Amino acid sequence: MCGIVAYIGPKEAYPVILKGLKRLEYRGYDSSGVALLNSGLKVYKKKGKVAELEESLVGKDLHANAGIGHTRWATHGEPSDRNAHPHISANGKLAMIHNGIIENYTQLKGELQKKGYTFSSDTDTEVLLKFIEDIQLNNDCGLEEAVRIALKRVTGAYVIVLIDQDNPDTLIAARKGSPLVIGIGKGEHFLASDASPIIEYTKEVVYINDYELAIIRPDELILKNLGNEKVTPFITKLDMELAAIEKSGYDHFMLKEIFEQPHTIFDCLRGRLDAAAGTITMAGVQNNIEQLKNASRIIIVACGTSWHAGLVAEYVIEELCRIPVEVEYASEFRYRNPVIHKGDVIIAVSQSGETADTLVAIEKAKEQGATIFGVVNVVGSSIARISHAGAYTHAGPEIGVASTKAFTAQVVVLTMIALKIAHEKGSIDNKRFMHLLNELQEIPEKVPAALKDSEAIRKLAEKYKDAKDFLYLGRGYNFPIALEGALKLKEISYIHAEGYPAAEMKHGPIALVDETLPVVFVATKDSYHEKIVSNIQEIKARKGKVIAVITEGDEIISKMADDVIVVPAADELMAPLLSVIPLQLLAYYIGVAKGLDVDKPRNLAKSVTVE
Ligand code: F6R
Repeated sequence: MCGIVAYIGPKEAYPVILKGLKRLEYRGYDSSGVALLNSGLKVYKKKGKVAELEESLVGKDLHANAGIGHTRWATHGEPSDRNAHPHISANGKLAMIHNGIIENYTQLKGELQKKGYTFSSDTDTEVLLKFIEDIQLNNDCGLEEAVRIALKRVTGAYVIVLIDQDNPDTLIAARKGSPLVIGIGKGEHFLASDASPIIEYTKEVVYINDYELAIIRPDELILKNLGNEKVTPFITKLDMELAAIEKSGYDHFMLKEIFEQPHTIFDCLRGRLDAAAGTITMAGVQNNIEQLKNASRIIIVACGTSWHAGLVAEYVIEELCRIPVEVEYASEFRYRNPVIHKGDVIIAVSQSGETADTLVAIEKAKEQGATIFGVVNVVGSSIARISHAGAYTHAGPEIGVASTKAFTAQVVVLTMIALKIAHEKGSIDNKRFMHLLNELQEIPEKVPAALKDSEAIRKLAEKYKDAKDFLYLGRGYNFPIALEGALKLKEISYIHAEGYPAAEMKHGPIALVDETLPVVFVATKDSYHEKIVSNIQEIKARKGKVIAVITEGDEIISKMADDVIVVPAADELMAPLLSVIPLQLLAYYIGVAKGLDVDKPRNLAKSVTVE
């Protein structure tokens, strides 16, 4: 949510920042801007995507060796040129970019207004910048000191980066609750919200922690806490290749990421699951196995698609481990004063590892003594770092705003965790354990078959793209997939879609059904098959159009449905990993057929670092 990039060193700053902003655009694309420091401070900003900023700057003198840039997902103030970042101080000497929300900005703004400050934007960022400026003036101190004093008064989440005309060789940055990575080059530094703008220049990075302040010069990085004590930067080596963050010939990142799933699922299993040996090796699980297998309850906290992965895990863990599971929206959990018992284990599921609601939810649970287990994709992210233990999903960078490959990787990791706990606990017999290991190991080979009908799905998308509403129905392990299919469609095509348990539809949503309503059934062969066949009949009897995702060879549903999409057979526990794929493709192709920007759907951002 908002992307920030900054550079200081011998290179031209603008091209580095511009490229970085394009890489971070998935985090927000309402407006963008840069501040460049040469002989003076120049700030350019524009409503719209980064390409529009780029176009508006053609022919301008953009020479600078230090600069900051921002791509915005609006929180305070509508998307507009004046609300775009960077913001400028009253004396015009400081520029600042910010990712996050300053919760007490109204109070700070009031104080500043009484002192005569005026504001040219509606943002909390401009308030914070002028607050810093005011402290600097009143205390006659340097910028670093002013930032430190200001941040002690601020509530909320932030990453800020400041550039100062009077100190052209220094950038000041600070973080609390939003991500900041600093890349260390030779006589140069790169700052960004994630590693993607940095990767082509250096693999050595420092992840800044909450309440840390960074003083960055071309050949020096000083980290301090808010108490002005030095902190030793911990240098990490990035394990990521440039190709992973490029489109590699696909029209969109979303399509590329959908088609990457045979590899990402394989990567997720690699070195962990060995069906021949009958083992699952996951250090994070093994080291905490007593706690996990004796858990009185497992609470899964997550948002959006990750929450859907949690729902699949609820079915799998309860079935295999006989441990009660609750799946919580992090945004509700964090405010609800939830009851957490000693012996409860919290599993936080997050692609980005930066989702503010999930982060705060687990921080609160941690304070109450819960053990936190993170299932996270982005290595080194905040959720990964504050968890007691965890397992990475190894799906690689996910750039398309709609989550696809991260979801299947989450389901794979959670299923492995369930299998491991069940095996250690003895709640699964060996024959079933071995069978499920084999089934899971075979999934990467089956995914290509679930992808192969993409052309047929593209045609289906053409057929249904003008529908006003969709209903997605599934039962058991496929119920969360119905929710996920509906969410994907809403995000990418802006068509209203509802996901529902198939049996529950007769308690309400069936009133929506008529000949104009496409109903997507996630109806692979499982123990609910007969029941879902009846549900399909109920829809057909009311003239609804049925699109069914079925297992190959399912003659019964093939004859009943208007359209079918076939996926390979798998054990019902693994079915979500295959049945979700055609739904990702359907949403993608409907979005494309409607001419929409599927990688950057309106109003959304990849990493939701505000509550
Ligand atoms: C949907 C989607 C979002 C995220 C949600 C949580 O396609 O991407 O619903 O799943 O914002 O994000 P993470 O997993 O990063 O915590």
